[in-house]
Amino acid sequence: MDDDDAPDQALADFKTRNLGGWGVAQIAAGTGLAVYAMWVGIIQPGFRKVPLKLQVPYMPASKAQVNNVMTLLRGRKGGLVDLGSGDGRIVLEAHRQGFTPAIGYELNPWLVSLSRFHAWRAGHHEKVSYRREDLWKVDMTKCKNITVFLAPSVLSLLQQKLQAELPDDALVVAGRFPFTEWTPCRIEGHGVDRAWAYSMQALRQHTFDQNDNITVTDGDSELTKEN
Ligand SMILES: C[S@@+](CC[C@H](N)C(=O)[O-])C[C@H]1O[C@@H](n2cnc3c(N)ncnc32)[C@H](O)[C@@H]1O
Repeated sequence: MDDDDAPDQALADFKTRNLGGWGVAQIAAGTGLAVYAMWVGIIQPGFRKVPLKLQVPYMPASKAQVNNVMTLLRGRKGGLVDLGSGDGRIVLEAHRQGFTPAIGYELNPWLVSLSRFHAWRAGHHEKVSYRREDLWKVDMTKCKNITVFLAPSVLSLLQQKLQAELPDDALVVAGRFPFTEWTPCRIEGHGVDRAWAYSMQALRQHTFDQNDNITVTDGDSELTKEN
């Protein structure tokens, strides 16, 4: 056989060869290992200290979702914080819409670098901030505009943190998944691109109204008036 024919012959051999059970098992194991390595090395690094039930995978917001989030923030001023900022698209758009400072908190170092690259490419790298921090450790007491796109499993826990720390004039906007125990003040969009806005003041007022049991003293007895 001519030397030039060797690659063609090898390819033909490969195509006709029967892999057999052992070959299939090797390919399956190799693929599984590659997927696992990608998950550990690229998609989920930085999450080792985060309990499994609080780990949320990366999935970027769609263009329509970003637009819906921004529509709900229209008329608001000041800073904005995106909790779990992914590749930084919400933060970048918020900066374009005039929010200053616009800050993203993200645990995955690859995504933090990617966000910085996107901001640099857009010429805004000095105006936005991407921090590699665990969102559960962020002090929210001075945040006025907050965006989240996180799994439903963590939203009820996050709700408690936000309710405890945010100022009254804060607005929370959730993309894709709502806070099921909160009543939104506005909703924008449809289907998977939908976004919900929650006013902290309205939520606290609502809770207050529900718990607003006034104790009235009537002679010797005490009456409780329930709203
Ligand atoms: C569904 S993605 C949303 C990305 C981005 N906000 C967007 O709308 O395109 C959720 C992001 O939250 C990040 N994340 C999850 N848990 C986190 C935590 N405890 N601290 C910081 N970031 C976290 C994930 O790495 C992921 O990038």
